Amino acid sequence: MATFAPPPGTADIFENEARDWRFLESAARETFARYGYGELRTPIFEYTEVFQKGLGDETEVVQKEMYTFLDRGGRSLTLRPEGTAGVMRALSSTDVMNGVEQRVFYLGPMFRGERPAAGRRRQFHQIGVENVGRCAPLLDAECIAMLANFLRAVGLDGFSIAVNTRGAVADRPGAAALLHDYFAPHISGMCDDCRARLERNVWRILDCKQEKCRGIVAGAPDYVGSFGEASRLYFDEVRRALDRLGVPYHVDRNLVRGLDYYVHTVFEVTHPALGSQTAISGGGRYELYLPGEKRPVPGVGFAAGAERLLLCREAAGIRAEGDFNAKVYLVGLGADARLANLELAEKLRTAGVKVELELEDRSFKAQLRSANRSGAPIAVVRGETEIANRCAIVKNMKDGSQTTVPEDQLENFIVRQ
Ligand code: HAM
Repeated sequence: MATFAPPPGTADIFENEARDWRFLESAARETFARYGYGELRTPIFEYTEVFQKGLGDETEVVQKEMYTFLDRGGRSLTLRPEGTAGVMRALSSTDVMNGVEQRVFYLGPMFRGERPAAGRRRQFHQIGVENVGRCAPLLDAECIAMLANFLRAVGLDGFSIAVNTRGAVADRPGAAALLHDYFAPHISGMCDDCRARLERNVWRILDCKQEKCRGIVAGAPDYVGSFGEASRLYFDEVRRALDRLGVPYHVDRNLVRGLDYYVHTVFEVTHPALGSQTAISGGGRYELYLPGEKRPVPGVGFAAGAERLLLCREAAGIRAEGDFNAKVYLVGLGADARLANLELAEKLRTAGVKVELELEDRSFKAQLRSANRSGAPIAVVRGETEIANRCAIVKNMKDGSQTTVPEDQLENFIVRQ
């Protein structure tokens, strides 16, 4: 049979995997609810400027990875490459500008035109949170602690949290000049990407993964020393709070994150199953301008990649638990038996029992095979004789033993099993 694969970088998720997805999602809902976060579902596409303005024109995502198209009226739309910008757009309808704190989480598909690889998809799924309207180091620490709790709730241990500070917006030019002065004389020995970054976004040189650049990056000056005192104290306080909460972390001065909206605290989480170059989650504090507003709104949040979390769970041998099999499989031979089975199935399902059955005219052997495949511990078998005698055979699928049960007691008998 011909099979048609979905487009590169996308995937079909069948029930046996969907269970693990549901597990992740419910762990997220439960953990985030304890911190007062409520769900926000935003559209999967937005006006393109939501991302251009939100993430910054210079970011790789905006420049190279967005799926952008025109709607019928000629307006440019983009499939969301991340969640934060759309969440902020949605929150512009609330009183977040008037100092009301908003705590929201979201789950869903995001789209980036990246080269597909293990754990890198073009349609991937993020589980994210945004705390909007407030700015305090303790909030950043709470957010990181919640991320650590969420990761533990999905069964992951041994993850590693890197944190850094990007300083305030006002700290950037001085620090960028310092980095520029350092990298400029070395730039001829660095990769093409870094050469382009030197003038456009010198920070991104710090997280270049190329071997020949790493050595040069290692000697970069301590730009945090050039930040204002308030920014340095802010970061100290984040660290003190993380220490107090017992959240494990390390400071990584080369962690700058790929999106332009970050200020102060940034963080990223890796896990040994995917190696140190692949983040399972990333986030930080940011400032974003809502449409028509002169002041930016502060926020802090993160997003975790669902596919990557599932890969880590798989590497650790963790699967969603639970009994997903039917409780009973109904085998019917002859039109009357099938109709009687359909009626019984509806009654049982109304009573909360998970039922599978064959409704097409198929052989006894084929139906027993299906009963076995269903994993149901019991099967009900009815043919013309049983219908005539107003009874059914209930078969224990494990030991093969059989009981004949009168029709009017069948439903109760099965429910009690
Ligand atoms: P990000 O680091 O671009 O941050 O993405 C967050 C997470 O999404 C990554 O750590 C990774 O697990 C997953 N991810 C990203 N791209 C892909 C891909 N192509 N395939 C599979 N997984 C992927 C953000 O998106 C920010 N909005 C996070 C944030 C929220 N910052 C503050 N609030």
